[in-house]
Amino acid sequence: MPNPSKKSAITDCFKGLSLLTPQERLDRLVQGGFLNDVDGGYFLKTVSPDLLELFDHFIENSIGGFTLPLGFAPYFRIDNKDYVIPMAVEETSVIAAASKTAKWIRQHGHITTASLGNEIVGQIQIARVQNAESLSGAIETNKNMLIELAHQHVLGSLVKRGGGIRDIHLRKIQRPDGDVMAVIHVHLDPCDAMGANLITQACEYLAGPIHDLTGEDVSICILSNLSMHKRVKVQIILPSIDRDLACKLEELSLFAELDPYRAVTHNKGIMNGIDAVLIATGNDWRAVEGGLHAFAAHNGSYKPLTRWTRVGAELIGEFDGPIMVGTVGGVTNLHPTARACLRLLGITKSQELARIVAAVGLVQNLGAMMALVNGGIMRGHMRLHIQNIILGTDATPDEKPLLKNKLKQKLKELGRLSNTDAQIILAEMRGV
Ligand code: MEV
Repeated sequence: MPNPSKKSAITDCFKGLSLLTPQERLDRLVQGGFLNDVDGGYFLKTVSPDLLELFDHFIENSIGGFTLPLGFAPYFRIDNKDYVIPMAVEETSVIAAASKTAKWIRQHGHITTASLGNEIVGQIQIARVQNAESLSGAIETNKNMLIELAHQHVLGSLVKRGGGIRDIHLRKIQRPDGDVMAVIHVHLDPCDAMGANLITQACEYLAGPIHDLTGEDVSICILSNLSMHKRVKVQIILPSIDRDLACKLEELSLFAELDPYRAVTHNKGIMNGIDAVLIATGNDWRAVEGGLHAFAAHNGSYKPLTRWTRVGAELIGEFDGPIMVGTVGGVTNLHPTARACLRLLGITKSQELARIVAAVGLVQNLGAMMALVNGGIMRGHMRLHIQNIILGTDATPDEKPLLKNKLKQKLKELGRLSNTDAQIILAEMRGV
């Protein structure tokens, strides 16, 4: 193992890494004692040579790829249009639950969506304002001039595509030391891009003119991942499902409404579906996660992102939250798998993608809730997980079918399974 006290050895090992090929970087890691020969040889085989070259442009110090299972959920009918949903996810039951629930909704109800705007927000922060009143006046008076400058200097091609800055306004925040912090919010329509780079570039550009205009020192500029003006609403209406089931689902929704410990798990189930589509389409799932969790807490306490209520005989499920995604720009266009997944979805517009993503989240949520109220998730989970449990044993191909049957039987008896159960059954089969 490397000796961290030998600083010069570490520096030599990591010098000029960005100029090396992935193979050369791995050689360095092996020479430095950070990696054994076997792993050194393994990483390069994790992706095709084409992708390896591409990834070397995406990130610093690339040495391979991390492959997630990619599958699809059929049966989705959203706003009267059929979709096959690509999903990249490692959790065994996610795609199965999404498909099963989408099929069930198709028979018993319908899914509708709406986009509430397409504006993302960038923040220009002035940590300590010298004169809040005159700053406010200057921003208000010169708003159009600032917008025009940013359009001319950094957003020309976005403006040609129909996007651009829609508004600029000032927020004042009281600091604990009595001074005032100012945050200038720049609202931008990024068209079909996610827009993180566009908005940050525009804000960084505007820092100069704002300083010249007001004499205030800008501290930092960055997008906000909470975009209250790029929200999506989804509704699932189930007109006449079993009353008992509807009551149980409404009760479970209330649990999430009243208890943040439950709300976070409820929301995690929604993110199972949302993240899987975001990853498959090359979108920044951390950005959407951050935005959705902030939205879940924007009224002061952490709440569920969906709600299920009975209205007469109907059960109505609703999702509301910001979904910042793109169908152009960034990895979405560069990663061949992301491009192919967008083609599988048959879409080119970011707002359509956002509506699909949110709808998958609400469907995934219903799937999890149905499993919870119908005897718990472990039964379904475990049935699918049997294959993983078998993979964790050293069962031979001849032993696997019998082991699988015995595990299924055991699951029926106990309602749960563990790796140890598989080891014990295998030992019994071998007469040990
Ligand atoms: C598991 O990945 C997701 C669930 O915990 C969601 C939920 O509890 O609603 C089943």
